[in-house]
Amino acid sequence: MAISSSPSSSSMRSATVSFLLLPLLLLAATAAATPAITTGEGILLPSCKTVGGGSTYFDVQFCLDALGSVGAGADARSYRDLAAVAVGLLSTNATATSSKIDALLRDPATGVATAGRLRSCRALYGGVARRQPGCAAAVRGGRLGEARASLEQSAAAARACEDGFRNAKATSPVAKEDDDAFKLAKLGVALLGFA
Ligand SMILES: *[C@@H]1O[C@H](CO)[C@@H](O)[C@H](O)[C@H]1NC(C)=O
Repeated sequence: MAISSSPSSSSMRSATVSFLLLPLLLLAATAAATPAITTGEGILLPSCKTVGGGSTYFDVQFCLDALGSVGAGADARSYRDLAAVAVGLLSTNATATSSKIDALLRDPATGVATAGRLRSCRALYGGVARRQPGCAAAVRGGRLGEARASLEQSAAAARACEDGFRNAKATSPVAKEDDDAFKLAKLGVALLGFA
C-alpha cells in the first residue's frame, strides 16, 4: 500500500513552518521599521540624483554604483564627504590602470603603435595617481576650487589617453578604464559643485 501524504500531515507541516518562521518575520519587520538615521544610504541617493541628473558626463546609476561600491553609504554626511570618496576611487582606479598598462607594455603581443600610445597613457595615469593625495587634502581642507581644478586635470588626462587611440582609429585596450577615470573625476567635480 502506497503511503500518500494526508492533507492533515501537510497542513500540520505548514503550520509548523509558519510557527518557526513567525519570529523571523517579526524580527525582519522590526528591523525594517527601525527609523533610518540620515547618513550614508540617506544622502547617497538624493545626492546622486542631484549630480547625476544634472550631468552630461555620467548618470545617476554611475554615481550610485561608484559611491555605493565602497559603502559611501556608511558615513558620508555631506557632498564634501562624497567628493572625498570619489577622489579615493579615482586614486585606486588610476593605480590599477597604471598596473594594467605596465602589464600590457610587458606583453609581447602588444604592437609597437599601441605600445607607444600606452606609454603616453602611462605617464598620464601616473600624473592622475600622484595628484590624488593633494586633491584629497584640498577637499578636506575646504580648498574646493583647487580640488576641482585638480579633478578637471585628471578628467582631461583620461580623455587624452583615449584620444590617442581614437585619433589613430585604433582600438584602445584601456577604453573602460579611461571611461571610468573620466567619469569618476567628473563625479568629484560635480559633487564639489554642491559642497
Ligand atoms: C574604477 O572605477 C569604476 C567606477 O567606479 C569601478 O567600477 C571599477 O571597479 C574601478 N576599478 C578599480 C580597479 O578600482
